[in-house]
Amino acid sequence: MPPSPDWTRRHILSLADFTPAEYNTILQTAVSFREVLSRRTKKVPALQGKVVANLFFESSTRTRSSFELAAKRLSADSLNFAPGTSSLTKGETILDTAKTYLAMGTDLMVIRHRDAGVPTAIAQEMERLGTQVGVLNAGDGQHEHPSQALLDLFTMCCCLDADEPRLEQLQGKKIAIIGDILHSRVARSNLWSLTASGAEVHLAAPPTLLPAYFAEMIAAATDLPRSITLHWDLEPALEQADFVMTLRLQKERMTQHLLPSLREYHQQFGITRDRLRLCQPSVRLLHPGPVNRGVEISSDLMDDPVLSLVSQQVTSGVAIRMALLYLMASGQD
Ligand code: NCD
Repeated sequence: MPPSPDWTRRHILSLADFTPAEYNTILQTAVSFREVLSRRTKKVPALQGKVVANLFFESSTRTRSSFELAAKRLSADSLNFAPGTSSLTKGETILDTAKTYLAMGTDLMVIRHRDAGVPTAIAQEMERLGTQVGVLNAGDGQHEHPSQALLDLFTMCCCLDADEPRLEQLQGKKIAIIGDILHSRVARSNLWSLTASGAEVHLAAPPTLLPAYFAEMIAAATDLPRSITLHWDLEPALEQADFVMTLRLQKERMTQHLLPSLREYHQQFGITRDRLRLCQPSVRLLHPGPVNRGVEISSDLMDDPVLSLVSQQVTSGVAIRMALLYLMASGQD
């Protein structure tokens, strides 16, 4: 496989230090793979002979299946790991599990874990052992979920120019992210990519789910001008928005009672058809899934074929993940 001259990263663990050029390389590569996925034979030999291990230590429907399909469409041999029936239940450590997959000749590891930092720890171990294995973070605790933010970026940019999606198209666009930002790795990764594009990012949630340090965290990354505004009311975030991304209430990550009730949350922060009238007439809705219908978004909006990009996000996910696996593998040979 020819190395990609624009790609030098072995691992994809966080989007914090991604450059505009890297985002655009990913978007362009995903366009090529989207074309492959539209063919009758939806497969290319790009990763033939490579082994991709999907090590999902936490539940997942779309991310896991999407990576599995992406690896298969690239003709890689993919291994799927199920923690409940693995040697983890016999006390094996996560690093020893990773080393077992390394010993089988794994080239790329896609890792999801409920604790922040696990993919980074595995990547460091792979480096220490002198291997070329690439590690991709498929969601770690409340930290990051880079491939989700990249597929969100691809979906939004394709909405503006389907043939040539580019990061710069989001410049000056108003993007509202609504919901459980505190517990969301999706929001954290999206903050890096969307602010890097020059979009105006508006976050809205009840104060218990939107800590003020979010703005400081992004402002501290001074290499790019980043625009981020926090709201503890929904309406100002929605006014004239071009895109609205709503997030699931992550009940499994809540350790305290942070909300009076789901009904009250829906009344104050739920996205409804009525509230969307505050946005641009061309507004589009995103949600990473899984969805609590009737809580963060009304059920009819979720299924609206024009307003909702939720299915496009899932479809985009396969092309983006093919692009990521391809780019990571291109540096290995
Ligand atoms: C997200 C996740 O797992 O972080 N889902 C996803 O990967 N599509 C968001 C969530 O769980 O709410």
